Amino acid sequence: MKLRHYLQFSDFSRAEYDYLVERARWIKAQFKQYKPHHPLVDRTLAMIFEKQSTRTRLSFEAGVQQLGGSAIFLSTRDTQLGRGEPVEDMAQVVSRMVDIVMIRTFGQAILERFASVSRVPVINGLSNEYHPCQVLGDIFTFVEQRGPISGRTVAWIGDSNNVCNTWMQAAEIFDFDLHVSTPPGYEVEAERAGIYGKNHYEHFADPMEAARGADLVTTDVWTSMGFEAEDAERKRDFSDWQVDADMMKLAGRDALFMHCLPAHRGEEVSAEVIDGPQSVVWDEAENRLHTQKALMEFLLLGKLA
Ligand code: CP
Ligand code: NVA
Repeated sequence: MKLRHYLQFSDFSRAEYDYLVERARWIKAQFKQYKPHHPLVDRTLAMIFEKQSTRTRLSFEAGVQQLGGSAIFLSTRDTQLGRGEPVEDMAQVVSRMVDIVMIRTFGQAILERFASVSRVPVINGLSNEYHPCQVLGDIFTFVEQRGPISGRTVAWIGDSNNVCNTWMQAAEIFDFDLHVSTPPGYEVEAERAGIYGKNHYEHFADPMEAARGADLVTTDVWTSMGFEAEDAERKRDFSDWQVDADMMKLAGRDALFMHCLPAHRGEEVSAEVIDGPQSVVWDEAENRLHTQKALMEFLLLGKLA
């Protein structure tokens, strides 16, 4: 099988995503019925974390175990990576000992360097630029609740961060409209997002206008990991970019609310919205498990159905 990596959302085609969504649906149904599904017996996943995580670690570790494999957790603090061992040397060694690797790190270039010498598939578990596994889970969640996302409108309110960039790529692949509203000075950088056309996204100065008529309203923290030094300034700059009940009213009664979590109630989202009837954040978090199981299976074994 040809070696494939999943470093950004645009690494897969629409046809491959259609397969993954259907496969995740099947894997989820098996799991809910307590039916064993062990295609990855004797396979080992290494998880390298340079930043903190709850959901990503849990969903990858539980996921590979549920598929019959095992996981090894490595953090910068406890490995030679934290003492300056070159990423390429780490990749040579790790990829001779395990079957698949997930990395959460800072710059996307670190992932690219690791993948360039890795003998096994590498998955981006979040970088400063992208969070493809998150948007894979989010799109699965939308499809599960509302049917196809193509032709729909998604509103991104807040920071043009890793998750926003990934939504930008997803809009091109899945053919939906993305309305982005960021405060001045925090606009999407198309090149950083890996986007070169303007067919699928529109910038809105006013967050309320971005949300108007949307099928999905989504946001994320004002300060992502690695940007903590800017926290006080960001709290000031983003104060009008909160998803609240008035904004959800403009989006419409059937609109969903998503947040990758962790969330800060009273900052990027009001408690009323995240804990309200339009919010699907717990399904969204759970679906990281099912979609990443489909992803690992696909990278190691190819299409099975
Ligand atoms: N959404 C997400 O990736 O969560 P963690 O940072 O907890 O992994
Ligand atoms: N944008 C956030 C996502 C956390 C899952 C961050 O990078 O910290």
